[in-house]
Amino acid sequence: MKFDKNILCIGAGYVGGPTMAMIAHKCPQYKVTVVDINPERISQWNSDELPIYEPGLDEIVKAARGKNLFFGTDIEEGIRDAGIIFVSVNTPTKTFGAGAGMAADLQYWEKTARQILQCSDSPKIIIEKSTLPVKTALAMERILTSTHNGIHFDVLSNPEFLAEGTAISDLESPDRVLIGSRQTERGLKARDALVEIYANWVPEERIITANIWSSELSKLVANAFLAQRISSVNSISALCEITDADITEVAGAIGMDSRIGDKFLKASVGFGGSCFKKDILNLVYLCRHYGLHEVADYWESVVRLNDYQKERFVLRILTDMFNTLAGKRISIFGFAFKADTGDTRESPAIFIAKRLVEEKAELVITDPKALKNAKIDLDGLDGNISYVEDPYDAAVGCHAIAILTEWNLYRELDFEKIYRSMVKPAFIFDGRNIVDHKKLFEIGFNVFPIGKSALTHF
Ligand code: UDX
Ligand code: ADP
Repeated sequence: MKFDKNILCIGAGYVGGPTMAMIAHKCPQYKVTVVDINPERISQWNSDELPIYEPGLDEIVKAARGKNLFFGTDIEEGIRDAGIIFVSVNTPTKTFGAGAGMAADLQYWEKTARQILQCSDSPKIIIEKSTLPVKTALAMERILTSTHNGIHFDVLSNPEFLAEGTAISDLESPDRVLIGSRQTERGLKARDALVEIYANWVPEERIITANIWSSELSKLVANAFLAQRISSVNSISALCEITDADITEVAGAIGMDSRIGDKFLKASVGFGGSCFKKDILNLVYLCRHYGLHEVADYWESVVRLNDYQKERFVLRILTDMFNTLAGKRISIFGFAFKADTGDTRESPAIFIAKRLVEEKAELVITDPKALKNAKIDLDGLDGNISYVEDPYDAAVGCHAIAILTEWNLYRELDFEKIYRSMVKPAFIFDGRNIVDHKKLFEIGFNVFPIGKSALTHF
């Protein structure tokens, strides 16, 4: 079959996989190929069990796969065949050398740029999907023009704003699609080619265009602002706990101000996920690089507050359980960094589990989707840790439950049954404020929510 466009995506991860599946689903007239250096990941994308869990993803992948959506490992052939190439390789925080722990590690990204140059024999539009420091497109352009081989490449920035767990609905109906380009005749033409792809399903007023640097920077800033809201509400949760104010009431009251808005104001045990911390540190590094130290300090405090919130949660467990956790069994309800995903990257649960083990607690971890990743994250940790699918089984013989992920199933559990199976006095630390605290207190639990007074029987 002849397709209108050949689209390639390099990097079959959390961003590349679902995004390309949506393009293939909405545009049967285009051929969409996703390649990756990791053959195991590609074989998972070609199997019945996809490498990532996202509600709705299975259906659209299975409907388009083999028709206009293909997953493979032949990156070179993919590059030669495609006119449009999305680059969606990982850009983790650097762990070595200058900028270690702060700057983005661009090695995978640069290898990809060089490979595109090496394998191309026709002009191509290259689209940055990975989150990158502002001005990275300039480096991409420099690499692609380094051999003066006469082939023209246009580099665009098209950051992805999808959130995990809602990736499919975010892709299907995005708040906006942002496309940054050079403001030259060629740059604008390339931009229009990408607009045309999204216009297959996204209303035109939601497709916004910008200069390429604004586009790159907007992605970092969007994540920094979102994380800042969570750190802001979490900072106030600490104050609520000692003043008998209630963070849900405070957030509800301020959120009704249309200038503030009511989203992203849920106090929690801390934010996790692969993006927030990485992108803020990246922003901080950029600001320091340009000598903007006050700006860097301001944004860095968002991450510091998040670390404080996680540590505060552990200390609360410790002090409220009579200052010793040694030999006590604590069940961790939820290991994913948020509900509806099996992803545990930067999950607060990792830090909390490690700290509780340091205090010599025994851990029983339960999660409907993330147990496999939890085992990898805690591999080699010297402690007594078990992993149990069923939350009822996980609670048996425990002194405390710590809810760390807001899985809906935890709201609906039979807590009377759970209470009966636990050691008394039984404690519950609700790091997500998802269960009915008053009811649990009436059952007999000592209840410790986030940002609200504790309900205790002593
Ligand atoms: C985020 C951005 O939302 C998305 O636009 C970007 O493309 C990638 O980074 P994601 O990390 O998937 O998406 O999840 P998100 O829903 O933003 O949640 C991040 C963390 O914040 C989670 O740990 C979540 O539990 C926490 N959170 C979120 C809160 O603690 N309180 C809130 O009110 C909202
Ligand atoms: P994200 O959350 O940004 O999508 P992931 O880590 O989930 O990040 O996915 C990035 C993918 O990119 C991984 O599957 C990785 O194997 C792949 N990758 C990294 N470098 C290359 C490369 N040079 N060529 C092809 N794929 C790559």
